[in-house]
Parts: sequence; structure tokens; C-alpha cells
Amino acid sequence: MFRHVTSKVIHSNIFSPGFKYLFFKSYFYAFSQFIAEVYTRSYYSSSLLKILFTQKRKINNYMELESFSHGQIQSKQWLCEQLEPYLPNAATICVPGSWHNVLAFMLLTRNPNKYRSIVGIDVDPSVKTLADNICQAWMISPTAIVNNVTQNANSFNYDGYNAVINCSVEHFESDEWFRKINPGTIVCIQSSNVDDSGDIWKISRPNKTYGEFVEKYPLTSYYFSGTKEITYDTGGYSRFMIIGIK
Ligand SMILES: C[S@@+](CC[C@H](N)C(=O)[O-])C[C@H]1O[C@@H](n2cnc3c(N)ncnc32)[C@H](O)[C@@H]1O
Repeated sequence: MFRHVTSKVIHSNIFSPGFKYLFFKSYFYAFSQFIAEVYTRSYYSSSLLKILFTQKRKINNYMELESFSHGQIQSKQWLCEQLEPYLPNAATICVPGSWHNVLAFMLLTRNPNKYRSIVGIDVDPSVKTLADNICQAWMISPTAIVNNVTQNANSFNYDGYNAVINCSVEHFESDEWFRKINPGTIVCIQSSNVDDSGDIWKISRPNKTYGEFVEKYPLTSYYFSGTKEITYDTGGYSRFMIIGIK
């Protein structure tokens, strides 16, 4: 009798409206807690994403202006002054790691009739639009002599260029690009003693000293080799350069 009643109680508990009510109530409570948790987390993660995107945009804006910064322009002006006397007329120039190709802009504004072609090569596809805008004066027929290519410069074919100019060596993952340059080609390389792998400088293979830099890129003869000090109230850095024949 007792057993029978017990089993009856259990049976009526599981399927009773009261049990169903309690079951669904706790189910909806857990579900609403879950939704609240998702909402809270997505609110914080979207706020976090917003902060990250804003930071990234600030860095990108900074980087766009950075290619026109004091140090960049002073260094490239120094490069133009030292290299131009050694370039033949109708020169064909290749610029691995060209970034926004401000160098092509400067070479061409200084000597509009000296060059047959200037090719900029950069592995980062996001820099091409700005590079093309900066060099637009020489990208529309009949003055179309600049081409900004998105490619890894370590796999580029350097045959047929009079000169190869690389101001970004400390950012390159290897020096394969240098090994691929034919002997007899004019080579101009700039680097600096900055050793900073952070978001702005992004230097992966620093050249801490001038000696370290020169040793990496042996040339058969040198037109120029030297250091330019870029100094500011708050510090500065040394810019290294070699120009010669590979
Ligand atoms: C940020 S700039 C720095 C410029 C340099 N410090 C200067 O003073 O002109 C370096 C550029 O090298 C490019 N770069 C790095 N590795 C490369 C590679 N293997 N091939 C082509 N471009 C490369 C990067 O995408 C970047 O646009």
C-alpha cells in the first residue's frame, strides 16, 4: 500500500502542471541569465573592440603622416642629394619596401626628366592607395612612369634595373632581396640605429650600429657611406646610408 502510494506520488510529480511550471520557470530563468550574460559580455567586448579599433585608427593615421615626418623627409632628401649624381639618364629604379613611395615623389619632383621608370614594391596591400595618390602625377599617361606593386620584395625579379633603393631593410624578414640583385647594379640602402619592435616603428631586424649595417650589405665599390644624426629636444637617432655598386 505504502509502495503503491509512493510510486503514485512520484508519477504525479513529474507530469503534474506544478512540476512543469517549476521546470519551465527555472529553464526560462537560466535562459534569461544566459542572455543577460551574453549581452553584458558583448557590451564589454564591443566597447573593447571600439577602443582597439580607435587605437588602430589612431596608429594608422599617425603612420600615414609619419611617412612625411621630419626624420623621414630629412633622410630621403639626404639620400636624393647623395645618390642623384651617380644615376644615369632615363634611369630605371626599383624601391623595395616603398611604403607610401614618398621617395619616388621626391626623386621626381627634384628631377622630373631623369627617370624612365620607378617601381615601388611593398608587401603590405594597405599602403598602395596612399602610395598611388602621392605618386599620381606620374601614374597617368603620358607621364605614367611610377608603378606601386603589392608584393614581397624578397621574391621580386630585379633584372634590368639601374638602381635598387631600400630604406626599409630593418623591417624585412630576410635579405633575400639583396642576394637577388645582379652584380653591377647601383644599390642605395638606408637604415637606422632604432631598435623598437612596437606598433609605430615595427622594426624586426634592427641594425644597432653602423658597422653591423655595413657588414650586412657588402658592395664591390662605394660611392658614399655615412651617418646622419636626426636630433630632437627629447632624443633622436642615427640614420645610416651606403651607396655603391653590388
Ligand atoms: C613602415 S616602412 C618604414 C620605412 C623606413 N624606415 C624608412 O625610413 O623609409 C617599412 C615598409 O617596409 C615594408 N616591408 C617589410 N617587409 C617587406 C618585404 N619583404 N617586401 C616588401 N615590403 C616590405 C612594410 O610593409 C612597410 O611598408
